[in-house]
Amino acid sequence: MSHVLHRSGAIPPVATRGVGIYLYTADGRQVIDGSGGAAVACLGHGNRRVAEAIGRQAAAMAYAHTGTFSNQPAEDLADILLDGEPGGLTKAWFCSSGSEGNEAAIKLARQYFLEIDQPGRVRTIARRQSYHGTTLGALSAGGNMMRREKFVPILSPTHSLVSPCFAYRFQEPGETDQQYLDRLIDELDAEFQRVGPDTVMAFMAEPIVGATAGCVTALPGYFPRVREVCDRYGALLILDEVMCGMGRSGTMHAWEQEGITPDIQVVAKGLGGGFQPIGGILIADRVVRALHAGSGGFLHGQTYQAHPVACAAAREVQRIIRDDRLVENVRNMGQRLERALVERFGNHRHVGDIRGRGLFWAIELVADRGGKTVFDPTLKMNERVKAEALSRGLATYPMGGTIDGKRGDHVILAPPYIASAADIDTIVERLGDAVDAAVAT
Ligand SMILES: Cc1ncc(COP(=O)(O)O)c(C=O)c1O
Repeated sequence: MSHVLHRSGAIPPVATRGVGIYLYTADGRQVIDGSGGAAVACLGHGNRRVAEAIGRQAAAMAYAHTGTFSNQPAEDLADILLDGEPGGLTKAWFCSSGSEGNEAAIKLARQYFLEIDQPGRVRTIARRQSYHGTTLGALSAGGNMMRREKFVPILSPTHSLVSPCFAYRFQEPGETDQQYLDRLIDELDAEFQRVGPDTVMAFMAEPIVGATAGCVTALPGYFPRVREVCDRYGALLILDEVMCGMGRSGTMHAWEQEGITPDIQVVAKGLGGGFQPIGGILIADRVVRALHAGSGGFLHGQTYQAHPVACAAAREVQRIIRDDRLVENVRNMGQRLERALVERFGNHRHVGDIRGRGLFWAIELVADRGGKTVFDPTLKMNERVKAEALSRGLATYPMGGTIDGKRGDHVILAPPYIASAADIDTIVERLGDAVDAAVAT
């Protein structure tokens, strides 16, 4: 009996302790956290430096309202993130989750256009099979069809969707990369024209699509062309790096590997590594300047924004990532993970695609590799793999509806940045056994 409203009807095992890459359950199991939950636990679990930083801040001063005070952890965290003004980003605003970060990004885009006297800009364009969060604004903007479906009647109609850049599923046979890119960019351009280019505030995208489609990277050249379209029509580019950012992709920001910079970047998950709930937005100077030259401040406040204890945790996480050169380890271990996945699943009948970057990889499960046919969704193949993996001591992050919210299955691995070569090998070995067992049942 549990009084907690769990995600599904079943009561999941109770996790009681975490050490390094391992989680331990009340019934005595040791489980490798092979996905850091939902790509959150970038330092793994039980990090003493972070735990002590949280304790010190909670004891010194847990809360002071941002309407009256700043706090040192928030100031320091912003300094760390914006050191050198990466990509022209000059200010940070902190909240408690990725959804809240996307809400803030959308509202900041709206306010930016009010400040520069373009009040007709009220729309966003994003991509199908994206995810920008679960709150009503972020859900309205995003393209996770499965999560949207029941709520469509109460979602805002000021958001529209175009096709994702998802070559494995949507590049036509015989279509070259160039032709596929041209088609996607033409579609985006046509969407700007359809809704009226001067009504669009922003295009929103995950540089690497996370949970919804499973670590889908764009074809080279896609994002520079998206940036061009935004610039042509005077719209902002919001990059949602909630899942793929903060080192996960092998560079601190995933956009560094795309040759573009965002106007607003949303971060969360790896920002605080799960030690505290924290998200935020990083803001380009031109947006900041418009705000300062206009009404002066961002008309968006939350009681717990820039929470001192959350910021102290994230500050310590970010210091450790830098002190221990963990993004370098993400790159090195990422190469090993890719190699191991290709070795184990490259010829697997039921794995159609292996994709990702850094320590952020997915396998897409298929009934038949040649025809890319999907498993019957009622089989819930991704959940079967999850259960088989868990029974072998490996936690993964699986999802169904990979293609359109209904069809397709994938499983994500996102090991902590501290993972060793032996950890990576064990993770892939256990996942291999889990997939074999799941498809055999
Ligand atoms: C890309 C992306 N954006 C936004 C969110 C929402 O973040 P949160 O669940 O912290 O509200 C997620 C969560 O998975 C995400 O992956």
